[in-house]
Formats: sequence, C-alpha cells, structure tokens
Amino acid sequence: MTSSHNLDTLENLLIERGAVSVITVNRPKVLNALNTQTMDELRRTILALKHDAGVRAVVITGAGEKSFVAGADINELAVQTPAAGREHALRGQHVLDLIENMGKPVIAAINGYALGGGCELAMACTLRIASETAKLGQPEINLGIIPGYAGTQRLARLVGGGRALELLLTGDQVTAQEAYRLGLVNRVVPAGELMNEARTLAATLASKAPVAVRYIIDAVNKGLAMTFSEAEVFEATLFGLVASTDDMREGTRAFLEKRKPEFKGT
Ligand code: COA
Repeated sequence: MTSSHNLDTLENLLIERGAVSVITVNRPKVLNALNTQTMDELRRTILALKHDAGVRAVVITGAGEKSFVAGADINELAVQTPAAGREHALRGQHVLDLIENMGKPVIAAINGYALGGGCELAMACTLRIASETAKLGQPEINLGIIPGYAGTQRLARLVGGGRALELLLTGDQVTAQEAYRLGLVNRVVPAGELMNEARTLAATLASKAPVAVRYIIDAVNKGLAMTFSEAEVFEATLFGLVASTDDMREGTRAFLEKRKPEFKGT
C-alpha cells in the first residue's frame, strides 16, 4: 500500500523520503527542543512512513552540529498545569510508542545533545548510533520534574535498573563512549561519519525481508512486556506466520542455490 499522506506542510521537520527515509528535527535555535507542534509533526510523519510500503528504514537526526534533541521545550513545561502535564506525557509517550512499534527499523543518528525528551526519543528508536561528540542524559531532575516520555521505563530496560536510577537521579550527562559502555547506544563514530554510518546501516536493514524484520521488532518489543513463556509462544506464532511469506521461500532457496536472496516484502 502506498501512502498519500501529505508531509508538505511540516514546519519543524525536514523529510527525505525514500527506501531509507531521513527525518531531521529542525529547530536549531533551541537545539531542536520538542514542542507540541514538533511532536505532532513527528506523529504524522511516522504514520505516513509506516504506511508507505516503499519505505524500509528510517533515520532520525537533529539539525546543526550541536544537538540531536535537547529535550522537551522547557518554555511549554514551565507553564503547564497538572492535567495538561498528564496529557502532555501521554501524548509524547504515544508518539514514541509509534516509533518503537513502527514495524520498520528506525535508527537514531545522535549528532550532539540527546537530553531529556531527546534521549527518550533516541531510546524509542530501534538502534542508536552516536557521534563521538554526543552527550546523553535525563536531566529532568535538575528542573524539579521527572521524565514523561517513558524515559524511566525504556532507560531501565536498556541499561538495567541500577544504572538507570543513577542517570535519572543525578541528571548527569554521559559522553558517547560512556553511553556505549552502558549499552545506551549501539555504536560510536567520528562526527563526520555519523550520517554515512546511519544511512549505510539503514540500507543494510532495508535490504532484509521486511516481514521478518517487523516480526523481530515485535517479538523483542512486545515480548519484553510478557512473561518468558508467553513470549516464547508469541515468538513461535510469528515463526510460523513468517512461513507464509514469499520471502521465506526466496531466502531459504537462495541459500541452497548459493546466491544472494532478493526480498520483495511479500
Ligand atoms: N527547551 C527550550 N529551549 C531550549 C532547550 C529546551 N529543552 N534547550 C536549549 N534551549 C535553548 C536555550 O534556552 C537557548 O536559547 P536562547 O539562545 O534564546 O538563550 C538555546 O536553546 C541555546 O541553548 P544554550 O543553553 O544557550 O546552549 P549551551 O550550549 O550553553 O547548553 C545545553 C546546551 C543542552 C546543555 C543546555 O541548553 C540545556 O541544558 N538545555 C536543557 C536540557 C534539558 O534540561 N532538557 C530536558 C528538558 S525535559
């Protein structure tokens, strides 16, 4: 199914649409902070790319040299009421859940500060590549607040409870190398190579069998919220379902015929 979603009216995101699509958060004057409008544009964009069968992988990055995303927009946070705060968090969680469960690999190319909502956005992505100059952290505690885009949950699942609590309670920024050591990012590369590395990895993942890719993402993400034995049944069901695809026949046949498979997404 090809999507007719119109992304021409976006003000805070730059979109490069293709088999590997690139979303650039583009508010460099505020270090790409996420205000309500930007989050809504992200929601619309993710839905459009999800439903576009021509899109096989996505890279998310920030405009400029300095920042991936420096958090939720503090101008909005400063004036919110309790009820609005709750809605704000639920809406943000929804957008990040859409990214996590898009069914296509989403790679965060972390080109600088990934703080607060920026770190939460990166954690919702399937994989994270950081430039050597990146800094990551959850500094909400220093504002007298707590993360609201599921940062307390994703960070603990990614790096473990003890390390998550240290980052969340100190609010300290960590370097890219430290984030790598913690398991918060998958790779660290020189700043000049970041986008190349992210695009190359995205292209590699884009060449894999799309249904199997979707099922792996589902099995891991959904499975983490199940008991082990429930998750095993879920995995077995997806393992069986993937046998209905042409790509399974192509992949296994290509191996036996000693050639490269050509996956079609069916
Ligand atoms: N929301 C709104 N505006 C932000 C912002 C945010 N999360 N992060 C940065 N900005 C704005 C700054 O207010 C500043 O605006 P100004 O030029 O009008 O003064 C501009 O972006 C540049 O930031 P500045 O603080 O001057 O840059 P710096 O290099 O000295 O520091 C950071 C960079 C990232 C360390 C610092 O901006 C920062 O701590 N930002 C907030 C991070 C945060 O707490 N995020 C979690 C929010 S939940």
